[in-house]
Amino acid sequence: MWTRITAVESIPVREGRSVELADREIAIFNLGGRFAAIDAQCPHRGGPLCDGIVTGGQLKGHAVVCPLHGWKIDLDSGAVLKPDVSVRVETYDVRVDGGIIEVDIPCARKRAA
Ligand code: FES
Repeated sequence: MWTRITAVESIPVREGRSVELADREIAIFNLGGRFAAIDAQCPHRGGPLCDGIVTGGQLKGHAVVCPLHGWKIDLDSGAVLKPDVSVRVETYDVRVDGGIIEVDIPCARKRAA
């Protein structure tokens, strides 16, 4: 279910914001020309991925570095790139409709922005 989140201007380029939807917290990132959404909690110890540093670019792909201990998460696949562990966070489809960011969440119920 596509759920309207916020205006595109609300998330600066190369930054993230979190939102609670359907009993989960999701981090949405502005990658400059497109957006990405993943589960907001780091799979290491639950760090806030929305506050991480966004790395990469259109050619290399984008990732976020967790602000707590530096795990690096691919923003398209959700795979942990660093360290070398077989862990993945959930990813969500994102689109922009009329200047509003929308995220595809099964049975979404928006609780807070
Ligand atoms: S909680 Fe994210 S790297 Fe430790």
